Amino acid sequence: MSYPRTRMRRMRSDDWMRRLTAENTLSVSDLIWPLFVHDGCGEEAVASMPGVARLDSDGLWRAAEQALSLNIPAVALFPVISEEKKTSDGAEAWNEKGLIPRVVSGLKSRFPELGVIVDVALDPYTSHGQDGVINDAGMVLNDETVSLLRRQALTQAAAGADIVAPSDMMDGRIGVLRDALEAEGFSNVKILSYAAKYASAFYGPFRDAVGSAGTLGKADKQTYQMSVANRREALAEMRLDLEEGADMLMVKPGMPYLDVVREAAYVFDAPIFVYQVSGEYAMLCAAAANGWINADLCMVESLLAFKRAGACGILTYFAPQAAALLNQ
Ligand code: PBG
Repeated sequence: MSYPRTRMRRMRSDDWMRRLTAENTLSVSDLIWPLFVHDGCGEEAVASMPGVARLDSDGLWRAAEQALSLNIPAVALFPVISEEKKTSDGAEAWNEKGLIPRVVSGLKSRFPELGVIVDVALDPYTSHGQDGVINDAGMVLNDETVSLLRRQALTQAAAGADIVAPSDMMDGRIGVLRDALEAEGFSNVKILSYAAKYASAFYGPFRDAVGSAGTLGKADKQTYQMSVANRREALAEMRLDLEEGADMLMVKPGMPYLDVVREAAYVFDAPIFVYQVSGEYAMLCAAAANGWINADLCMVESLLAFKRAGACGILTYFAPQAAALLNQ
């Protein structure tokens, strides 16, 4: 027998051969586009996220049109709330005439075929920037917060949201939201749980974008978001959320947590989503802007890696660029 006996390179000889044997593919149908929307007029660029802006409602309709023309299945909305509307309990979060309910119903009436995902969490609305209500010691109160998240999610569902995505990491909120949605006639509203959400420093640019960096100050979210050291705990979080009625699970951030995506996809039969967060986006953009990496190739590679790990969908600020590239 001549050496080498096995030639793995034989299968890599030509582009058609490599395509034929690809184990995973990235498609436009994998993409969810996160969008920031504000109450003011016009677009405000987000300095730490090149190419990303806070949109007004007209800008949002244009983005939705773009999403549809690129065949992106869904958008995820994040509100930027003016300082005077922020309170300690975040009451603007369940104002039926608030920004998110208005733009959700605007989107669904104009573009009924576009999926609309909304974030369930109080941080854009609280004067202290935490995802829930706090006591005098600054501790985020679990059960009190869950009852407010319930009001927020019902307001979003009433406005026409297709998917509510709790990103707050309170205990027991999935069960409460599922029961509330069933009881109030929203049994088709889907729950995408940010089940394994880590207390990550990669959310920095997002907090600039929604303006919670300033309100949060030096405080952190370590008493509710997960420790970056833990993997088995993520599986426990995910199992609980499925038992409580989540339809889909999310891991967040993405690239530093591919092990968690991989394991979740292996262990659970529910769809697993992954969020390529603002800090990941900012890093790739910054390196590309310096000419240190190839922007398109690194973007596609980072997204395909999520598919390889087992994700069935990806929230990414690159959604329009990636879709345009994939549609070529
Ligand atoms: C807030 C929320 C955050 C993100 C999505 N929803 C930030 C946080 O928890 O402080 C981060 C998204 C990103 O960084 O792109 N509930």
